[in-house]
Amino acid sequence: MDPSQSRPETRRSRRARTPSGPVDVTVVVIGAGQAGLAAAYHLRKNGLVAVGEAGWATADETFVVLDDASQAGGAWQHRWPGLTMADAHGVHDLPGMPLVAPDPGEPAALAVPYYFAQYEEAFDLRVQRPVRVSSVSDVDGRLLVRSHSVVRPDEVVEWRTRGLINASGTWSKPFWPTYPGRTSFTGRQLHAHDFRLPEDLADGHVVVVGGGTSAVQLTLALSRVTTTTWVTRRPPAWRDVEFTPELGRDAVAAVDARTRAGLPPSSIVSVTGLPLTPAYRLGITAGILAARPMFSLIVPSGVAWSSSSTPAADGWVDGPAFVEARTLLWCTGFRASLDHLAQLRLRAPGGGIVMDGTQVVADPRIQLVGYGPSASTVGANRAGREAVHNLRTLWSR
Ligand SMILES: Cc1cc2nc3c(=O)[nH]c(=O)nc-3n(C[C@H](O)[C@H](O)[C@H](O)COP(=O)(O)OP(=O)(O)OC[C@H]3O[C@@H](n4cnc5c(N)ncnc54)[C@H](O)[C@@H]3O)c2cc1C
Ligand SMILES: NC(=O)c1ccc[n+]([C@@H]2O[C@H](COP(=O)([O-])OP(=O)(O)OC[C@H]3O[C@@H](n4cnc5c(N)ncnc54)[C@H](OP(=O)(O)O)[C@@H]3O)[C@@H](O)[C@H]2O)c1
Repeated sequence: MDPSQSRPETRRSRRARTPSGPVDVTVVVIGAGQAGLAAAYHLRKNGLVAVGEAGWATADETFVVLDDASQAGGAWQHRWPGLTMADAHGVHDLPGMPLVAPDPGEPAALAVPYYFAQYEEAFDLRVQRPVRVSSVSDVDGRLLVRSHSVVRPDEVVEWRTRGLINASGTWSKPFWPTYPGRTSFTGRQLHAHDFRLPEDLADGHVVVVGGGTSAVQLTLALSRVTTTTWVTRRPPAWRDVEFTPELGRDAVAAVDARTRAGLPPSSIVSVTGLPLTPAYRLGITAGILAARPMFSLIVPSGVAWSSSSTPAADGWVDGPAFVEARTLLWCTGFRASLDHLAQLRLRAPGGGIVMDGTQVVADPRIQLVGYGPSASTVGANRAGREAVHNLRTLWSR
């Protein structure tokens, strides 16, 4: 990874190639999913020049997008193969280029990365990959972003920047809750993050944990090849009304209130609910999407409910006190991938980061996009624009 490849020799590019010296860049974007690409689009629209394009080394304002995936597509390239474009909840167009309606049966893991790759090329975004940011620190009033090549970890580049747009998503932080006896289970345990094909789990009963879309969709998929038990810690939040723009705004406002208060974002389903699609209705009628309350104990061969466990209530069904299982499938959501920002100590006592829209209140040079209220494809788009606007406003003061 040599940021100065194939450019004329200048004072700036010489400095960029000095192994010990950081590369000066106006804005670093971490992540090239929906949020990072939207931000990069707006940086370019604001006249910033991408590192690597002709003339960047002498340009007044520059940006670089660093992404640790091996190809374009953000987290979409990792989605399970059975998640088709028809199943997706609606992948919003990136700014400036529509996602041409693909075959609804096409896996999202192919269709969306193809679109993102075309987008990067169309706007010449020069995403550097696979490049992982390991840390960000504050050195003499500038942010120092330390990155390395994923394939050659000893190839390290430091970027000295005035602004950071963090768009690192959640995919690399699957959340595994702790339950009594979890380590004693002798069967298989996996997170939705690592699920590939229902057939992989067809060798016995599967207990699916979690009340979000991942749990619902994977329970339905698994029911075609094996038996399942679905457990949730709250009765499933079925939503029988259309998700109108007003409901969407209310949902975003609720998450926004949390992040403004410095609380970590809660589960996505707690905000969106579960839309009663025809497939989900069929699953409910067939008794497949019938949730039980959480078990109280995991034992070597399965899961058990004590007589004092939460009783079945509206929205939950009853069942035997013990269920033998071959697999525990944890569909328990994700956390924001922000470990590389740890040195900046941005977290508030509430465990989250106090935000004002996309801006980190404690350090307005840092914008978090795709975080909290902008953790959807439409929200990520808006956040990209807001982040660039916020940095411009900050610099004009
Ligand atoms: C299974 C699933 C299905 C979904 N379906 C939908 C849907 O249908 N519609 C919808 O609106 N939303 C959906 N979402 C939510 C959706 O994924 C997000 O809202 C949006 O796509 C996230 O975009 P992002 O840019 O924030 O993150 P990502 O797409 O995760 O992109 C982050 C990028 O940052 C990179 N990265 C992370 N850490 C680093 C680092 N330290 N250094 C360098 N690079 C790094 C990652 O490799 C990745 O390329 C779904 C989520 C899941 C889990
Ligand atoms: N387009 C698609 O087809 C598709 C498919 C799958 C996922 N998605 C999207 O992917 C994103 C993530 O969805 P997701 O379902 O993986 O996550 P999610 O919506 O965040 O749901 C996580 C679930 O795990 C539960 N949970 C958390 N901690 C738990 C614990 N300690 N014990 C038991 N349960 C616990 C949560 O319960 P609480 O609510 O009580 O916290 C919640 O029910 C969402 O945006 C979703 O829409 C889309």
